[in-house]
Amino acid sequence: MLPNVPFDQLPSYKKLKSHYKTLSQKHIKALFEEDPERSKKFSIRFGDILVDYSKNRITSRTRSYLIQLAEEAGLSGAIEQMFKGEKINATEARAVLHTALRNRSNEPVLVDGKDVMPDVNEVLAKMKEFSGKVRSGSWKGYSGKEITDIVNIGIGGSDLGPVMVTEALKAYGKDGLSVHFVSNVDGTHIAETVKLLNPETTLFMIASKTFTTQETMANAHSARSWFLEKAVDQKFVKKHFVAISTNQPEVEKFGIDPDNMFGFWDWVGGRYSLWSAIGLSIACSIGFQNFEQLLSGAHEMDKHFRTTKLDRNIPVILGLLGVWYNDFFDAQTQAILPYDQYMHRFAAYFQQGDMESNGKSMGRNGKPVNYQTGPVIWGEPGTNGQHAFYQLIHQGTKLIPCDFIAPAISHNPIGDHHKMLLSNFFAQTEALMNGKSDEDVRAELKTSGKKPEEIDAIAPFKIFSGNRPTNSILVKKITPKVLGSLIAMYEHKIFVQGVIWNIYSFDQWGVELGKQLANKIYPELQNDWPVNNHDSSTNGLINQYKRWR
Ligand code: F6P
Repeated sequence: MLPNVPFDQLPSYKKLKSHYKTLSQKHIKALFEEDPERSKKFSIRFGDILVDYSKNRITSRTRSYLIQLAEEAGLSGAIEQMFKGEKINATEARAVLHTALRNRSNEPVLVDGKDVMPDVNEVLAKMKEFSGKVRSGSWKGYSGKEITDIVNIGIGGSDLGPVMVTEALKAYGKDGLSVHFVSNVDGTHIAETVKLLNPETTLFMIASKTFTTQETMANAHSARSWFLEKAVDQKFVKKHFVAISTNQPEVEKFGIDPDNMFGFWDWVGGRYSLWSAIGLSIACSIGFQNFEQLLSGAHEMDKHFRTTKLDRNIPVILGLLGVWYNDFFDAQTQAILPYDQYMHRFAAYFQQGDMESNGKSMGRNGKPVNYQTGPVIWGEPGTNGQHAFYQLIHQGTKLIPCDFIAPAISHNPIGDHHKMLLSNFFAQTEALMNGKSDEDVRAELKTSGKKPEEIDAIAPFKIFSGNRPTNSILVKKITPKVLGSLIAMYEHKIFVQGVIWNIYSFDQWGVELGKQLANKIYPELQNDWPVNNHDSSTNGLINQYKRWR
């Protein structure tokens, strides 16, 4: 059982409340002026990753109060409980063991007294063999041709992780083998995806933990119909369809050979599953050795998280900073801004990772919380974001803590592109912190030849208050290992916050409701009779749809 104390009843909560009153008056710029060692004090180096969190609205005292908060919330014990396979996902009575999937040490991890590592290793070996065959061309389609296209059909955690990683590591992809992803139940997604594909050389991976998810099953059936239109004979399905699931009976019912099923377990949460067989499309795309590197990177971060003192512990620090802004500065959102085009789905991935985990308002004590929990996560790659929404981050009325992520080495060193990209990365966090004073604005306008009355009229609009907090996460290069560490870093940050907010981070009852409601309305759309059993708005919308379709 995780500890169970509402966050606002922890002794350091009060300390932080009063500390906030003084600290919120301080400018980060002043904090830098007061302490030349600030960058050193508030940075952590982890292998090829440097996390500089010095451009935050904190002092050493803030950090020590936040660490006290984590201690009072029982964070260290909770971390151990997770790694040891205790059933900390209490509302589903499950362990939370994505860390076992990447446990490269192979030390036993027990669930209900049974070591899960032999099963984990068996599935990894099966993934290695299968991905090797697909990549080498020895896995042949029904007409004897090699596979040229993989289509992963899944949604939520059975889609977002594989898409994000495959995109982020595209530089490690294989020529002649493309990976596509179909998630939306909107028929357009599957239709547009298969349009240019040849059934003889296409392999479908049906990725679904439950194998009952409406969207995935609808797409899987449509994919099979598309395939059989040309292949005709059912017996060819087994060469072109594999399943990734925990539900063997449903997989067999669909007609997939159990030999072509890659299993995982109920202690792998959907949004934490890319490390499991759900990552099969990743392994095929980047090769199994690189997939193992991804696992190793995550494992390194797991060890760091489990063994490092809280005040040098990256996920702990990032989690606490998030709590600081969310609950004391009333920040509502958190932006994730990768300065790396390959990472263009990173923020979308953690939208699910974070918001499905910590978008909860019921405390672990079964009572509604009195404070803010999970933030809205959003973001786009720099520099596109700069020309879209950064205006609001710089001059808007909202405080938006931002994580800036960038690699020092690009996979595509074309001309001076990367220097330009990185100069933006460095300039933005500096500008968000420093802002631009009235004095500087006026001096600039004067130099540009503006008259005093023109300066008076325009100056107020050009002032930037600054004092806007950022973390800078500079990595050497986005390799499979570095990416694995970055993903695990954010996963654990989410865990830290869930423990402190006293909520259950590993269930998703809110999403289950949507599934139930859609299943109720679906039969009503099968005929043309008007409906009258809903509220007047829903009745009106359904009936108009029926008239128009
Ligand atoms: O979005 C809710 C959810 O349950 C996620 O947690 C999961 O990743 C997704 O649906 C897909 O579920 P499944 O893998 O069972 O198809």
